[in-house]
Amino acid sequence: MAYIAVKGMQDIYKDQAASFNYIEEVFKAVCNLYGYHEFRTPILEYTEVFDRSTGESSDIVRKEMYTFLDKGDRSVTMRPEFTAGVIRSVVENKLYATEDLPIKACYVGPVFRYDRPQLGRYRQFTQAGVECIGQDSARVDAETICLAIQILSMLGFENLTLKINTIGDAESRAKYREALKAYFEPKISTMCEDCQQRIKLNPMRILDCKVEADQEIAKGAPKMKEFLSEASEKRFYETLSIIHDLGIEYEIDDSLVRGLDYYGEVVFEIHAKSKAGIDYGALLGGGHYDGMLKTFGGPEMAGVGFAFGLERVYSVMKDNDLFKELDNGLDVYVMPVGESVLDDVFELTSEIRTLGYSAETPFAALKLGSQFKKAEKRGAKFAIILGEDELAKGVAQMKNLKTQEQKEFKLDQLEETLDDAFGEDDDDGCGEPHEHSKEETK
Ligand code: HAM
Repeated sequence: MAYIAVKGMQDIYKDQAASFNYIEEVFKAVCNLYGYHEFRTPILEYTEVFDRSTGESSDIVRKEMYTFLDKGDRSVTMRPEFTAGVIRSVVENKLYATEDLPIKACYVGPVFRYDRPQLGRYRQFTQAGVECIGQDSARVDAETICLAIQILSMLGFENLTLKINTIGDAESRAKYREALKAYFEPKISTMCEDCQQRIKLNPMRILDCKVEADQEIAKGAPKMKEFLSEASEKRFYETLSIIHDLGIEYEIDDSLVRGLDYYGEVVFEIHAKSKAGIDYGALLGGGHYDGMLKTFGGPEMAGVGFAFGLERVYSVMKDNDLFKELDNGLDVYVMPVGESVLDDVFELTSEIRTLGYSAETPFAALKLGSQFKKAEKRGAKFAIILGEDELAKGVAQMKNLKTQEQKEFKLDQLEETLDDAFGEDDDDGCGEPHEHSKEETK
């Protein structure tokens, strides 16, 4: 058997890994502005955690979970999303009773869905998201949507489409499900096998069907808004009015029902296409939920949250050149001239790092031409060149690899020289984010 990554899973390294880190940093920084704290829940949960909350009728639970028996014969599942695990944790640790409400949890990490791999769709992917738990108000829903928009805006997205809908309270949804059942029943024998199951489990899931012919039939289905209770309708328009006042543009999409069973009231998705018009699917999705804490044995408490897939966000950002400001290069490449200075160059490299600048050396006295090529491959900004003659005089050469300017400096003035060099570089107008590691470690 060939040693290849499991189907639908990918290796992420170098620039892509640095870009993922950048997205995570921006995400956490914006969450921080809204008072969120990180939750790290296990990747593996007992299967009931997802069966009971994410929903028996959802495609995720029915078809896409990585579920197996552990050595104690307990059924466990690799998380297909975070929300259920976070709520399980809030209930198990009784945080709803000990923490000030609302609890604001944010998270980032891998999730697993046995989905059909295609553009923007993987079997292991990375989600970043939030849950705001324990306070039920249109204002909380609106703040969560505002946070989602701010994260994507801070990442540089300009043309975002916020699609929003309400799926009402439990009573409205029960009426809606009946109406959908009545609409689909005469047509169901012509629809896909999944839809034939969906009509029994939850006819609302038919609206998520990806089969084109079924989507055509679904277009004529009754709309949720016809079955909304007065309270749900009022709440929806309250949320819309708050986000409108915050300057957020939205599109009401009355076919948006989301593919997970726990939602109630407002649901939303954010879409963005790449410059070339490629649609990687929804970048972000979320909504309000009511019964989940109770399902896990906790109190009746509401929550609202969203998650986005880093792979999709990354792809659209890359296609739209939103990483061009990112600089993952090395600060200094330290070059030995001759074998005799290898130890001194090794020490000098280490000293540069303790001063807070990133540095590398080739560990061998290669020809200078090859060393410059290596420096270039590592995106180094400066080269420091040290030979026997210089060492005897207590000096070294420092070359700006962008301007090609070279000057001698005294080794006992290393710190001042580096600070000056990188300070000057800022004045040149190249002072971009991630300028050099000293800046980051401050
Ligand atoms: P979801 O819509 O299933 O919601 O997933 C959220 C995001 O994960 C999607 O918008 C998409 O960016 C990404 N995503 C989903 N499936 C894949 C895949 N196969 N490959 C790559 N990316 C994917 C949830 O998971 C909810 N837990 C969100 C939430 C939090 N609702 C309330 N709180």
